[in-house]
Amino acid sequence: MNTLPHLFANNLAWSENIRKTNAEFFETLAKQQSPEYLWIGCSDSRVPANEIVGLMPGELFVHRNVSNLVGHSDMNCLSVVQFAVDVLKVKHIIVCGHYGCCGVLAALEEKRHGLIDNWLRDIRVTASSHQAELNALPNKNMQADRLCELNVIEQVKNVANTTIVEEAWQRGQELHVHGWIYGIKDGLLRDLSVTVSSAHA
Ligand code: CO
Repeated sequence: MNTLPHLFANNLAWSENIRKTNAEFFETLAKQQSPEYLWIGCSDSRVPANEIVGLMPGELFVHRNVSNLVGHSDMNCLSVVQFAVDVLKVKHIIVCGHYGCCGVLAALEEKRHGLIDNWLRDIRVTASSHQAELNALPNKNMQADRLCELNVIEQVKNVANTTIVEEAWQRGQELHVHGWIYGIKDGLLRDLSVTVSSAHA
């Protein structure tokens, strides 16, 4: 049974379009991948990693979860980081959050949302450790936007503190960890200027 035929039609058109400019594109890519970047972003459908930065298949290694979190016991995320750093030797890890992140908004609310509240626990911790800064902002929207940024900054630290990244720096491997935020209202990226390039940065 051919389910969701429009998606297969889209896929055929997409594949043909790429082969129009480079007939060997997929054959070449099938032999190896050598992306320079690991993207850790939110699962939100409005934040499509490759498209935002205009990169083709093969150019961006991607991990996405709700609210772009890097937990120290998250084997899924850590395995992605390890493969990207140790095997693919990416030069840049980009943690990219976005304004209007539903996970961050949920973490700011008093009410319960079920299982996800356990996942969002780290964002609540970030909020409470910056309570004074957040309270000084004039409204809820600005608090939420700032917490989206603070969450990215926190996750950059988490990436930098993984054994994977620490060991890469110890052996002199070039590796930069960046914190960016994306505006779903304007389609633009902003660099939060928290790039770390060594254990002593
Ligand atoms: Co989000």
